[in-house]
Amino acid sequence: MTQPNPGSRPLQEADPECYQIGVDEFRRESEGLELIASENHTSRAVREAMSTYLTNKYAEGYPGARYYGGCEVVDRAEDLARKRILQIFAAQHANVQPHSGAQANQAVYQALLQHGDPVLAMDLNHGGHLTHGHPKNFSGIFFKFTGYGVNPETGLIDYDVVRAKARELRPRMIVAGASAYPRAIDFAIFGEIAREVGALFFVDMAHPAGLVAAKLHPDPVPHADAVTFTTHKTMRGPRGGTILCREEHKKKIDSALFPGVQGGPLMHVILAKAVSFGEALGPSFITYQTQVKKNAQRLAASLLALGFRLVSGGTDNHLVLIDCRSKSITGRDAELALHKAGLTVNKNLIPGDPEKPMVTSGIRVGTPAVTTRGLKENEIDQIARWIDAAIAVRADDTKLAKIRAEVGDFCRMYPIP
Ligand SMILES: Cc1ncc(COP(=O)(O)O)c(C=O)c1O
Repeated sequence: MTQPNPGSRPLQEADPECYQIGVDEFRRESEGLELIASENHTSRAVREAMSTYLTNKYAEGYPGARYYGGCEVVDRAEDLARKRILQIFAAQHANVQPHSGAQANQAVYQALLQHGDPVLAMDLNHGGHLTHGHPKNFSGIFFKFTGYGVNPETGLIDYDVVRAKARELRPRMIVAGASAYPRAIDFAIFGEIAREVGALFFVDMAHPAGLVAAKLHPDPVPHADAVTFTTHKTMRGPRGGTILCREEHKKKIDSALFPGVQGGPLMHVILAKAVSFGEALGPSFITYQTQVKKNAQRLAASLLALGFRLVSGGTDNHLVLIDCRSKSITGRDAELALHKAGLTVNKNLIPGDPEKPMVTSGIRVGTPAVTTRGLKENEIDQIARWIDAAIAVRADDTKLAKIRAEVGDFCRMYPIP
């Protein structure tokens, strides 16, 4: 009789400690409300794809040109992911191998810039990302970044200031895209500025990619030399990144990613990307993204009615940025109070923030995950009331626990996928 392979035991039996961690995370996500703007709840199909045998396979290289044998099956996964994403976005080329958004960005810089080149990108303190020139990030170490910000009064990107800075600096590249900007970005103007000063134009649409896919946010693809995005935020796929680019940059970008930045691609994750891109091609994706945006707008309106100040006064996308000074609390303390009440958010710097990044004056609140659970405008009003109530009773753990119990009861009606 053949012996069962000892590696065939289910996780629960093989390693109860690790199994329990998985169960506990499921419980944490189920019993609270996920309001971190960069997170989402993946479908069961996406998670199943990630636990397939494709995790076993080395596939350095690209489909049809691998450094390993036996890639005929995983090639199908990568070809399918590329085909589907190019049906969603009208780019000339796609690379679906980046392990993350940061690595996608690294490959773009490495492909298109020389060390020391001047780059103009959004300031981190105004909503930009670490990979847009933070001094401790590879981007800030290897390239000379200058920041542009938002108008302190309006909270909006001032395109005239961007143009003036670009004329003065003559950057090799202009970067658009942000982690905490609640408004639509006008990529056409950015593209025009880049052309005027002879710069390359790169867009990091990590945050709004799902909205762009659903045509609810301006599309950067026609205007940019390269576009990156993360697959796990509004796109609702597995954790990872993707690069889109013009034909002329294809060779350089592919080889900057592999062998430049990464080794073997995560083929199980690429299969899961293909699954999520397939979901994004279905009609329910547009309904979902429409609701994400409606929910964010409703959240903004409800919070304003409750006396919160919002950076830019509202939102055009999936997130709102709350200026917590309007409730005399720091971002750090607001995050903690909301956590105790079962609402997960992150503290965030706001434009002109006098506080340090570990304290901040703001919190960023997003609707992608709660919309996946089926919440609509009326439930969003309730979330706004809980945010307000939790901040009001921040010093009273008993009252915070009471809100948490209400949130828990509510969550049972909206199971995660
Ligand atoms: C604008 C932007 N770019 C890049 C990234 C990096 O993505 P990852 O965490 O997958 O490296 C993020 C993540 O939050 C982001 O907001």
